[in-house]
Amino acid sequence: MIKCDVKDKNLAPKGKLRIEWAERNMPVLRLIKERFEREKPLAGIKLSACLHVTTETANLMLTLKAGGADILLCASNPLSTQDDVAASLVYDYGIPTFSIKGEDNDTYYKHINAALDFHPSITMDDGADLVSEIHKNRKDQIKEITGGTEETTTGIIRLRSMEKEGALKFPIIAVNDAETKHLFDNYYGTGQSTIDGILRATNMLVAGSVFVICGYGMCGRGCAMRAKGLGAHVIVCEVDHLRALQAKMDGFEVTTIANASKTGDAFITVTGDKNVIRKEHFEVMKNGAIVSNSGHFNVEIDIPALEKIAASKRQVRDFVDEYTLKSGRKIYLLGEGRLINLAAAEGHPAMVMDMSFANQALSAEYVLKNSSKLEKKVYVVPTEIDREIARLKLVSLGVEIDTLTEEQKKYLASWQEGT
Ligand code: ADE
Repeated sequence: MIKCDVKDKNLAPKGKLRIEWAERNMPVLRLIKERFEREKPLAGIKLSACLHVTTETANLMLTLKAGGADILLCASNPLSTQDDVAASLVYDYGIPTFSIKGEDNDTYYKHINAALDFHPSITMDDGADLVSEIHKNRKDQIKEITGGTEETTTGIIRLRSMEKEGALKFPIIAVNDAETKHLFDNYYGTGQSTIDGILRATNMLVAGSVFVICGYGMCGRGCAMRAKGLGAHVIVCEVDHLRALQAKMDGFEVTTIANASKTGDAFITVTGDKNVIRKEHFEVMKNGAIVSNSGHFNVEIDIPALEKIAASKRQVRDFVDEYTLKSGRKIYLLGEGRLINLAAAEGHPAMVMDMSFANQALSAEYVLKNSSKLEKKVYVVPTEIDREIARLKLVSLGVEIDTLTEEQKKYLASWQEGT
């Protein structure tokens, strides 16, 4: 009997087909899996992963298992689980999985604790909930842990603040900070999947609409680019001067959320911070405004404030709650303010998760191999790993590139030659 908590065993066949479908577009991870099968670099270790339970994550789990790891998976968000995938992981692949789409907070933490009852020596997080639970409530397990990896910007922010306060008790590899992760996953992945989530939830016409993007990091840039590509007028709200300037020069209108609230048809928060859209903003929004979040946690939209000023609320479509304000104006909140790309759509496509999860697999191997050297710090993914993933991705895409001549190498390494 495999330990698990999944929605429905009967969903497994559909999940298996979809896991195989994603695998077709994960060639870099496939190469790593083939090497892992031969070399078994993770033999004998226990690894608990707290990730979005998707077809792409399933392929990462199969890679880690091929490497010899004993693994367990739980959800990193209550609304991102693909129930068919969770069922297939358990019943087709024998991987203990704890995740049910729509689980409440108690169940979410019950699942996190099931992942820790497994007594991992390596943690793999997306949002740092495993690491934070160990440091807050299961300190006795710290000594069992060699290290961990972290997938997302929000998790890295939490972990870096732990490191700064001296609270972090084992090394973490910041997968998010690899160039082959954030320059692709956060930009092309979030850009496409966020718009995909909004469209699946609402079926709105983007052309001619006003999209307000809060945050102009890689995720915000991706969303702005794709909304513009579909014909929206895009307004960017940003607190960082450099990023705001970039948005302006990329051709977007840049203004405050207070101003943008009056004109936006659709809002996306991707800042990583809390209460970005608040009471005073809801109060001036147009009738029918659509509000969504694609940041990691459901804190970017002040939902309690919206609940407070609303006269009534009803669900009008899957992942769409209609709030009617006392004035009679309606505001539509998507996916309960949780990551809309994973709540209403399927998250980033496999083609881009291929690189993110190649980084995860190689970072798990790295943390294990280098455990004696690593301190209680957040480390970036070594450049050699990052470059190798880019090289393999290009090979898999059939793209050839030039190499430097000896003369060019010498020129770049010298300082004597000038005009
Ligand atoms: N984060 C964003 N998209 C994802 C996906 N498809 N699988 C796992 N994590 C994700």
